[in-house]
Amino acid sequence: MKEINTGTSAFIFQDIDELSTVDKNLMEAAIQAAKNAYAPYSGFSVGAALLMDDNSIIIGNNQENAAYPSGMCAERVAIWKAGSSYPNKKVKKIAITAISSNKKLDKPVGPCGACRQTLLEYEVNQKEAMEIFFMGEIGNVVKANSIASLLPFSFDSSYL
Ligand code: THU
Repeated sequence: MKEINTGTSAFIFQDIDELSTVDKNLMEAAIQAAKNAYAPYSGFSVGAALLMDDNSIIIGNNQENAAYPSGMCAERVAIWKAGSSYPNKKVKKIAITAISSNKKLDKPVGPCGACRQTLLEYEVNQKEAMEIFFMGEIGNVVKANSIASLLPFSFDSSYL
């Protein structure tokens, strides 16, 4: 038996102002997207913004439903919007943030497991890593260099 390191490493930025201009701009698009979320049931509004390889930005936000499980997360709304409209464009980066009606979110809000899995599908297909940034309403921003790094021992099409 031996212990291995699954290789997850991340970077912590003090706040949004420590990001590069491009990355801050992307996070600001995610903030704007969160403001337009449809989250009347949870009061938890999430925004996601994708930077595509032609430097366009595609946004998504969570869309809830009175039949709760019929709702969808911001990240999947965004990646499916990109995948359905622009199947040949690659995603260079994704930024994610959230606003809660209950409290000021002061720690980074990472994507749920299902969204990580969904994003991974596109990362594997495009054969280029997507940088991922996530934050709360205020405070630190986490950056990871790929979706795969957030999902060790993941399942992908290579098994099928
Ligand atoms: N949500 C997202 O949009 N992304 C995530 O990664 C986690 C959760 C949404 C789903 C639901 O509308 C609300 O946040 C509370 O779970």
